[in-house]
Amino acid sequence: MTFYITTPIYYVNDTPHLGHAYTTIVADVLARYHRLLGEETLFLTGTDEHGQKVEQAAKARGLPPKEHCDQMVVQFKEIWKELNSSHDIFMRTTEEFHYKGVQSALQYLFDRGDIYEHTYDGWYSVSEEIFYTEKDLIDGKSPMGKEVTRVSERNYFFRMSKYKDALLSYIETNPNFIQPDHKKSEVLGFLRGEVGDLCISRPKERLSWGIELPFDKNFVTYVWFDALLNYATAIGYRGSNTEKYKKFWPNVVHLIGKDILITHTVYWTTMLLALGESLPKAIFAHGWWLTGDNKKMSKSEGPVVKPLDLRKEIGVDGLRYFLARDVVLGNDAQFSRDLVIQRLNAELSNNLGNLLSRCLNLIVKYFDSKVPEVNTLGEESKILKAQIIELPKIIEAEVRKLKPQSAIGAIIDLLSATNKYIDIRAPWKKAKDDLPHAAETLSVVFESLLQAGKWLSPVMPERSSQLLERLGYKLEGNELIRSSENVTPGDPLFPRLE
Ligand code: ME8
Ligand code: MG
Repeated sequence: MTFYITTPIYYVNDTPHLGHAYTTIVADVLARYHRLLGEETLFLTGTDEHGQKVEQAAKARGLPPKEHCDQMVVQFKEIWKELNSSHDIFMRTTEEFHYKGVQSALQYLFDRGDIYEHTYDGWYSVSEEIFYTEKDLIDGKSPMGKEVTRVSERNYFFRMSKYKDALLSYIETNPNFIQPDHKKSEVLGFLRGEVGDLCISRPKERLSWGIELPFDKNFVTYVWFDALLNYATAIGYRGSNTEKYKKFWPNVVHLIGKDILITHTVYWTTMLLALGESLPKAIFAHGWWLTGDNKKMSKSEGPVVKPLDLRKEIGVDGLRYFLARDVVLGNDAQFSRDLVIQRLNAELSNNLGNLLSRCLNLIVKYFDSKVPEVNTLGEESKILKAQIIELPKIIEAEVRKLKPQSAIGAIIDLLSATNKYIDIRAPWKKAKDDLPHAAETLSVVFESLLQAGKWLSPVMPERSSQLLERLGYKLEGNELIRSSENVTPGDPLFPRLE
């Protein structure tokens, strides 16, 4: 089996904020878990560079759009690198192969009669790059509360309505296709209403920054039609080598924010149906990070938390841990410094960090820095050992259910159980009169720390490898390899934050 995970491609109208970092980090954590489980994995992210929103941002900076994009892309790439994103491909929609892929898909649909010409009369939201009809508007604004402007012009349309029934039955027969469940209900509700065709062009006199329609040079492609195809063109769809596409497409999971649920579950999937391609395995819409006054953090509306500012205080791994661990994927969440500090102190400084230094310091003191070897275990030890052996299975199951927070939760539960175990067995006392008892305890605690180190590595790549190094191990691919005879306690790995 292969695993292919994507993030949305982000608009380059501004630099990324915590919300974008969240999607990228969660996708990265899932990709790294799949690699650790030994699966052939592909992770895609990138930038959405066409359309009115980007054109306006470029204009405001007095730059030609392409130049503006080239500059913004550098900042996106730098931030993802800082945050340790392990994406295999960084996709830009201004790349030549994408341009050709989109044109080829358009021509195919046009030749089959799935794209037709018609005069459009309706409303457009620049900030969402979405067309609305009169009945969609709520108090003169888009359903998301964004400003709209009146548009009336000749355009090209995709016969989206023709594929509505096929999509409905696909959703009903594939329960994991749209997640979480309450988002599926939202999409079904949308589809049961009136679904029109999709305007997929913009006349060049209004907007020139886009991919030219192959069958009418007076128009460019609507940015969403262009952008959604990135998931496929990035891996060779309609290109000269389609091997990667064939291999990975059947197992693609799109991780998105709930703001772009309909574009993905309705526009994209009907496009795929019309193109005769298979539908994604899953589309998962996560919730929003909210600002203090409970509004969605947004590039266009600010103020926003810059992920790199936080990184200075809590470390990249601290930020990654908090984002992947704190919220149930799918729910909204408030971001506050206090919540971050509480979470990191409780789970990393106390639960993990203290256990690590207690265990290693005792091994140094009583066992000459070598992990004691023990052949038979007593009842208490057997129970904890069983939980250690169970851990990878729980993690695999949770990761496949797209529940990284529960996978991490299983590690924290193991560490809590290990703390209870070490407290009850008090090896610091036993070492003085019953050394074999202390040896047994420390060998089991060590085993627990080793597994925790391995299975935390997708979340905290740097701190985990430091943790493993102290245990005398390293990860090579998905194997734990002994790198030293001795353990080395060192300074606290997760110092308490104030
Ligand atoms: O929509 N909380 O790009 P975009 C959580 N180019 N996630 C958030 C967030 C928040 N407050 N704010 C943004 C676009 N995100 C299109 C996508 S895909 C073919 C084209 C994340 O720059 C979340 O993943 O507006 C959301 O879906 C995405 O950024 C939107 O980024
Ligand atoms: Mg947006």
